[in-house]
Amino acid sequence: MAVTLEGKNKFVPPPDLGNKCPEDDVRRFITDCMKAVGVPQENALLMADILVEADKRGHYSHGLLRTEMYLADMLKKLCDPCATPTVLKENASTALVDGNNGLGPVVSKFCMDLAIKKARETGIGWICNRGSNHYGIAGVWAMKAAEEGMIGMSFTNTSSLVVPTRSVKPVLGTNPIALAAPAEGGNFVLDMATSVVAGGKVEKKVYEGKPLPENWSLDKEGNPTTDAKKGLEGFLLPLGGAEETSGYKGFGLGMMVEIFCGIMSGGTYGPNIRDWTKADRPADISHCFVAIDPSCFAPGFESRLGDLMNYCRNVQPVDPQKPVMVAGDPERINSEKMKADGGITYDMSLIEEMWKLAKYLGVKPLQSV
Ligand SMILES: NC(=O)c1ccc[n+]([C@@H]2O[C@H](COP(=O)([O-])OP(=O)(O)OC[C@H]3O[C@@H](n4cnc5c(N)ncnc54)[C@H](O)[C@@H]3O)[C@@H](O)[C@H]2O)c1
Repeated sequence: MAVTLEGKNKFVPPPDLGNKCPEDDVRRFITDCMKAVGVPQENALLMADILVEADKRGHYSHGLLRTEMYLADMLKKLCDPCATPTVLKENASTALVDGNNGLGPVVSKFCMDLAIKKARETGIGWICNRGSNHYGIAGVWAMKAAEEGMIGMSFTNTSSLVVPTRSVKPVLGTNPIALAAPAEGGNFVLDMATSVVAGGKVEKKVYEGKPLPENWSLDKEGNPTTDAKKGLEGFLLPLGGAEETSGYKGFGLGMMVEIFCGIMSGGTYGPNIRDWTKADRPADISHCFVAIDPSCFAPGFESRLGDLMNYCRNVQPVDPQKPVMVAGDPERINSEKMKADGGITYDMSLIEEMWKLAKYLGVKPLQSV
């Protein structure tokens, strides 16, 4: 369910808006929106970079669409756009950080930079934080380490939406896992929710008027449903789906993420995290960031990983029109397509919402190609 700012709907968008937007203007628009609610320039630019990267990678559920959610928290003074994180405790390769209720990307950049620094000095950096907010797609943080030649991992807890196997009551968020590793020919980037899909994909099916695949969602009474609207009001199954298809493994992975995040950091965990559609108190989200220097192990890491990835890509596909991919390939293909298209194409309904948002905040609306 999208977060909508009260009063925004009185603005009526013109009928001739375009929906293919130049990447730079999407960045400019998000930066302007952030600055309009008091986000300092540097943090506003970071927010814009993270959201635009999600759209370019094809994860529209975590890009421009989420701008309003971040703004709502700041307008309600539930998140501090100027806060900087503090290290509470550290040794050579670990640290516990308090995000001081700052923006998720600001806290995440601080923590991943620290993990990379510690990995350079000791081979590994493992950082847990509490007191943060939504950090966007998990993959961008892991990729920061891979860009420095390291294996990067990132995890976050989120508001409860996922039921444990054998129950109809949500206890965990969609708690994503990301692992990025440097490889010859293009990095490996596994970036996934520990639910069957990220919650935004159910929202997308509602917009598209399409049914859900089996085994994604339960309605709010706990019955399996393929009705997208009922699924959106209800809950998600853990990765794997029902017990018969090993959903308990996804539930276990979601628990693993929560151990690394809320439990290790001493932040809010599991069902105690606020309902994200009813922002009535600070989110107190916990994340975990890991960087590992592969040169501490056998030489030739990047070449062996590149070799394995290429081997996988070249195994015989069931359908010759659909070659085998490895994690990170779909997002790479999407980014290349955006570049070739000369802009990011959004759903018309989102473009209209962003036009209303521009008027509401008094910033220049998003431009189209
Ligand atoms: N911040 C949060 O609270 C939060 C919570 C949940 C999810 N998310 C984000 O939502 C995004 C979407 O998550 P998702 O689980 O729906 O992603 P997804 O199912 O689209 O992709 C998951 C992974 O599988 C890979 N993949 C996809 N198709 C493939 C194929 N055919 N062959 C091989 N690999 C393939 C992708 O490269 C990706 O690494 C992620 O970026 C995630 O970080 C964020």
